[in-house]
Amino acid sequence: MKFLDAAQNRYATKLYDNSKKIDSKKMEELKQILHLSPSSINGQPWQFTFVHDTEMKAKLAEASFFNADRIKDCDTLVVFSSIDNIDLFEKQITEHLVEGAVNYFNTVVKPLGDVFVKNWFQKQVYLSLGIFLGACATMEIDATPMEGIEPDKYDALINPNGNYTALFGVAVGYRNPEDSFQPIKKPKERVEFDKIIRSI
Ligand SMILES: Cc1cc2nc3c(=O)[nH]c(=O)nc-3n(C[C@H](O)[C@H](O)[C@H](O)COP(=O)(O)O)c2cc1C
Repeated sequence: MKFLDAAQNRYATKLYDNSKKIDSKKMEELKQILHLSPSSINGQPWQFTFVHDTEMKAKLAEASFFNADRIKDCDTLVVFSSIDNIDLFEKQITEHLVEGAVNYFNTVVKPLGDVFVKNWFQKQVYLSLGIFLGACATMEIDATPMEGIEPDKYDALINPNGNYTALFGVAVGYRNPEDSFQPIKKPKERVEFDKIIRSI
């Protein structure tokens, strides 16, 4: 599928068909795609937790405000977490990255302080969300990015060691044909093209 067609067809799915499951090969592909996400200095300050288990999905749904039904009815909930332990990140980059990258972190990023560093980690995680939503769209898998979650409750359930913190979840599955938000029923709402896209 052309990427533009995929972008027009995708939407933040509000209603899932709970009887339709994602084929296991496609699920594996989604995992591989997230593993390949790019990040500044290739730091990979993240963890992606695929929650297939119905009981765990139900517990996380209870910590997800108005998103609860999407999480219960989707095939899988993917929780995007950012590393929350700077020492652990430094250990990871020392073990995996070239010296120049480690030096960049130590001399340019780290001196800006813990708040900046954790914010920098989180930006990388959001970048992986873009890759993931694009991948789902081209694979004709429906998805809902959800910041409407309670990170503390998510962490207690899936990140109990405190090294990572949940930022958002993404429900994946297949749309319920009744979903009134799908683009064939509700045209996409965007600020006028010329106000957003400039050519100089
Ligand atoms: C980071 C992020 C967080 C979002 N959080 C939620 C959410 O908690 N619940 C929800 O239903 N939609 C959520 N959305 C969906 C947006 O509202 C939606 O992408 C936007 O309105 C554009 O609509 P479209 O994706 O259907 O084209 C989120 C989107 C993003 C990118």
